[in-house]
Amino acid sequence: MDVQTADLVLENIGQLLTMDPASGGPGDEEHDPVAGLGLILDGALAAQGDRLVWAGRQRDLGSHVACTPGARRVDLGGRVALPGLVDCHTHLVFAGSRANEFARRVGGSSYEEILAAGGGIHATVKATREASPEQLLALGLKRLDRFLGFGVTTLEAKSGYGLDTDTELKILRVASELGEAHPVDVVPTFLGAHVVPREHRHAREGYLDLVCQEMLPRVAEEGLARFCDVFCDQGAFSLPEARRVLEAGLALGLRPKLHGEQLARTGAVELAIELGALSVDHLEHADAAAAVKLAASGTAAVLLPGATYFLGRKDYADGRMLADAGCRVAVSTDFNPGSCLTENLPLMLNMACLQNRLYPREAILGATRFAAEALGLGEEAGSLAPGRLADVLVLDTTDYRNLIYHFGVNHTHLVFKRGKQAWPPPG
Ligand code: NIG
Ligand code: FE
Repeated sequence: MDVQTADLVLENIGQLLTMDPASGGPGDEEHDPVAGLGLILDGALAAQGDRLVWAGRQRDLGSHVACTPGARRVDLGGRVALPGLVDCHTHLVFAGSRANEFARRVGGSSYEEILAAGGGIHATVKATREASPEQLLALGLKRLDRFLGFGVTTLEAKSGYGLDTDTELKILRVASELGEAHPVDVVPTFLGAHVVPREHRHAREGYLDLVCQEMLPRVAEEGLARFCDVFCDQGAFSLPEARRVLEAGLALGLRPKLHGEQLARTGAVELAIELGALSVDHLEHADAAAAVKLAASGTAAVLLPGATYFLGRKDYADGRMLADAGCRVAVSTDFNPGSCLTENLPLMLNMACLQNRLYPREAILGATRFAAEALGLGEEAGSLAPGRLADVLVLDTTDYRNLIYHFGVNHTHLVFKRGKQAWPPPG
């Protein structure tokens, strides 16, 4: 029998949710209410360096794992452990506040109206252009601390509040620096086609030329982003415009992602599938035909219920339909200053259950395994198995269901990132 050497052992885990794909798919609730969780009762985990070397039952630990001298052993006292959460859709880097816009929306102004009048995203673009990289870095670090406190160990960060070459590059450089400076892994995505900036409002084509001919080549040349995203919707970029940008990105090695079907059924799902996008996100207006096509594709479906909520809308995406069709459904915050300002991913899981009608175990899959897959990181993050990153969230409860059921509070007890305690910060 192989014995693994470990410098970190987490033991006495009451419920260990490995989310290991090897333990099967999401299954169906009636026949297997824990399907997809890879649940091990009375479990233990072992890591060496930044990787897991073993996951199993506590009683098998001694025969499979040998600790190095000075190894850390942590008794979790029957608590829950699961993979560090993955937030696969955020707009992490921006400056300024839109608290005044929030109050105006409460008073009856619409998001679209505020945007058309030069507020909304444009207000954030102005503040972000004026901010120094140091200011953006400081803001980003505070946000990452909050994400980490809620158990997030990997997140995607989109640009899109620059909308000129220098500021888009500044945002992506800050995103990379954030990933270096903070324990949370940051995966940068280029979203130059977020909206048409004010100075190009009478020259859309010219802006798209700038995105495709100047920004994208610079982003690719400097290796500043892994993915290329477009806000493709009614009133945003059209299908042909989105295709143009995504194809230009693909030609430079950036895999597509897409904001789609949020405000209307446009065909963004079909475009995402055709171009081999990793995910199509929002989906409030996706229909049954879209769900069937997505399920048969390699493109993940990302739900952002917090955006529907924060915009005061009622048209939540039909997550039940998507999951029943067999889609890989991820759940994310969409963290941004206009349509969802929160780092609380577990709260989004509660909404994904009550508003998108996922079952709790499906929502947890959506913030772990399927979220990692939506970032092309399925072999690295989102599940606990030998060879994966030792990214572990320990909850201060003995029942994993409390992560979603007992909502709006923070259940985090400990977070390990790449085999090191990251939260609470050691020392
Ligand atoms: O994902 N869809 C467009 N972008 C953001 C909102 C950005 C903002 O209002 O600042 C979103 O919802
Ligand atoms: Fe978004």
